[in-house]
Amino acid sequence: MSGHGTPIPMTSRPCGPLMGDANVPGDKSISHRSLILGALSVGETRITGLLEGEDVLDTAKAMRAFGAEVTDHGGGKWSVFGVGVGGFAEPDHVIDCGNSGTGVRLIMGAMATSPITVTFTGDASLNGRPMGRVTDPLDLFGTQTVGRTGGRLPMTLVGAADPLPVRYVVPVPSAQVKSAVLLAGLNAPGQTVVIEKEATRDHTERMLVGFGAELTVVDTDEGRVITLTGQPELKPQDIIVPRDPSSAAFPVCAAIITPGSDVLVPNIGLNPTRAGLFTTLREMGADLTYENMREEGGEPVADLRAKFSPNLKGIAVPPARAASMIDEYPVLSVVASFAEGVTDMQGVKELRVKESDRIDAMAKGLRAAGVTVDEGDDWWKVTGLGHGNVPGGVTVASVLDHRIAMAFMVMGMATQKPMTVDDGSPIATSFPIFEGLMTGLGAQLVRANS
Ligand code: S3P
Repeated sequence: MSGHGTPIPMTSRPCGPLMGDANVPGDKSISHRSLILGALSVGETRITGLLEGEDVLDTAKAMRAFGAEVTDHGGGKWSVFGVGVGGFAEPDHVIDCGNSGTGVRLIMGAMATSPITVTFTGDASLNGRPMGRVTDPLDLFGTQTVGRTGGRLPMTLVGAADPLPVRYVVPVPSAQVKSAVLLAGLNAPGQTVVIEKEATRDHTERMLVGFGAELTVVDTDEGRVITLTGQPELKPQDIIVPRDPSSAAFPVCAAIITPGSDVLVPNIGLNPTRAGLFTTLREMGADLTYENMREEGGEPVADLRAKFSPNLKGIAVPPARAASMIDEYPVLSVVASFAEGVTDMQGVKELRVKESDRIDAMAKGLRAAGVTVDEGDDWWKVTGLGHGNVPGGVTVASVLDHRIAMAFMVMGMATQKPMTVDDGSPIATSFPIFEGLMTGLGAQLVRANS
């Protein structure tokens, strides 16, 4: 499947119980970072459990274009022979990051302080997304950028030959922006300081320390102050990528809304900067338990058991939790449709600049399926109809957004009538085994043209 070719309409029919184990793929955020940090270290980084979705494969291709040797050994095992901090070669072609905002923004950061010129592009979704949030701080290092109106791709970056270290307060809660600045800071002399007012996913910080960089994090009144000492020699690592909590969200939510279900989702990272959805679901009354809680590679990990939960209630999701579940609001809004009462989601403006405007995309599809949705610039409210009462029976647009497509496929498992998305192909960007995994549990997913 691909998000760039012929659309693949996909239908999800109401189904019986979902049962069994759901082995979801590797974490997308950690997979991108493993390839990029591997390329910036000297020697061989070995990666097990890499997510082989299109987004990450585009990053692998990009790292090759910058001179790293990236090898797929099969079965999720990869290796990267890096070129070292400051060792990126100038690619001889345009870098196409496909659908991936994380890929393009992190790679821009990683090349911004090397004396090379690189042109970036992406698919129609990525080329519509704002890049100024990354190029603004990169300009402070001395990088020059020329893009389309509104700071859109395609865009050319001329890396700084004599970069200056930077002190930057991130104006929006974004791990991508924070990470781009830190990766640029790697090849600047002295100390680069990034301050975030709200904590976002901290994989870059944890992994930089793992690769041997000198990095400290201090919580202050101003926010999380991250200080990185530039020009380290990064040491290659053996990385086991944990399974992705953002992908786990789909079988978990499907089990919660589908009568009779009992699904185990093993080995899910519960890093507090990523686990907000699971807290929220439990507050709504979902039968979701953590089994076998343990630590792996310095991260909390558990097996998640999700069972059908007939008495869900709407809640107000605290805005302070938004960053820890930002990718999960689409599927949360589906669960909210099957709850009694209103689920109120505030402080979520960032949803409007993801792979799609996710508030708009979900609101349109949910309304078409018979659910009431109210929305404002940075909030939305879903009025649930309760179990068994959600009509469905419509075709909705997935707008080149994998999480919109998967959210509506989950919805169709428990609506009165099937749900269809006009294009399921974007699912391959993050969860290429989604169809097989969900049908293996008992879902009824069919491609309209199969
Ligand atoms: C990501 C950060 C988040 C998230 C994206 C992955 C990352 O984006 O939505 O899917 O890996 O850093 P923002 O940084 O734009 O919030």
